[in-house]
Amino acid sequence: MCKLSSISETLKFLILLGYYYFEAFILFICPPCKKNVAGEIVLITGAANGIGRQIALNFARLGATLVFWDIDEEGNKETIKLAKENGAKGVYAYRCDCSNREEVYRVADQVRKEVGDVNILVNDAGIANVKTFLDLPDADMEKTIRVNIMAQFWTCKAFLPAMIACNRGHLVSISSGTGLIGANKLTDYSASKFAIIGFLESLAFELQAAGKKGIKTTIVCPSFVNTELSRGIHVSRPLLLPILDVEYAGRKIVDAIREEKFYVFMPLTNCISALKNFVPKKVLFLAVEYAGIFNNLDGVRDRKRRDQNHPAPKMSDTS
Ligand SMILES: NC(=O)c1ccc[n+]([C@@H]2O[C@H](COP(=O)([O-])OP(=O)(O)OC[C@H]3O[C@@H](n4cnc5c(N)ncnc54)[C@H](O)[C@@H]3O)[C@@H](O)[C@H]2O)c1
Repeated sequence: MCKLSSISETLKFLILLGYYYFEAFILFICPPCKKNVAGEIVLITGAANGIGRQIALNFARLGATLVFWDIDEEGNKETIKLAKENGAKGVYAYRCDCSNREEVYRVADQVRKEVGDVNILVNDAGIANVKTFLDLPDADMEKTIRVNIMAQFWTCKAFLPAMIACNRGHLVSISSGTGLIGANKLTDYSASKFAIIGFLESLAFELQAAGKKGIKTTIVCPSFVNTELSRGIHVSRPLLLPILDVEYAGRKIVDAIREEKFYVFMPLTNCISALKNFVPKKVLFLAVEYAGIFNNLDGVRDRKRRDQNHPAPKMSDTS
């Protein structure tokens, strides 16, 4: 009996496998309509600069209600101004240090009261230290982990319950090419970006297992994008690993969210890193050296991170 059910399950699996490949092929040839996001509440962390700002401007053009979270209040103001110029009607900005759990939960409550339940959550805020492992101060490594991954736990915990209640919503995380393969001078950063993939992929499976198929997830893995975070980076193989324009990156990410893609590799050559699981070690190291991953951060000098430029306000400043 048990053997029979196992055979029928395997048969069902094989039929569905073929069907889903066929479906993916058809969708590749005739892509489905992108989803309409007009009127949706979209919260973007790290919206004050770089990729987050460009994601915001693309959603602004599509009529979404926007909520910006960042530690950089001046940057938030500039993104509000630009979003309005790009057609946004409802725009709200909050100073929130996403690495601070209590602050995330407090500001999330404020958003629910003042704006409503978030439909699309884009976890973009991130920092990078760019130092060799032994040169990295312990506190800086902890900060990277708190901003780049712990923050995503807190924001998802804050906004997922409302999505689950109506079986509708979208969680988006900006990981990185270094979430797929390690990189010289990025031990803490790469670890945090690998963690994002493990986190959101697991959450996606958990939601599927619970029957919450209406909640989508998208993991974005860009290589290099010309923002403050990547200033000083030198690429030796631009065809393989180009520095992408930030406006292009923002547009592609919003398109992928509207197409409800599970993974977004930018550029597509990022997928090549999956081959690391199949090649001999010496081939892997040779390929990594050829791609420039051993030295493309050599030009990055010690710089002040954005969060050091924008320390939390003192209690007397918060009114
Ligand atoms: N630029 C690249 O080459 C590149 C490549 C791959 C992935 N990424 C990822 O894309 C995301 C955006 O990076 P970017 O290039 O636009 O960098 P950026 O420095 O231009 O923007 C990052 C934003 O995050 C904000 N931020 C930092 N710490 C925060 C905190 N504790 N709480 C709230 N906001 C905080 C900053 O103020 C800033 O506005 C990051 O997660 C980054 O790791 C960037």
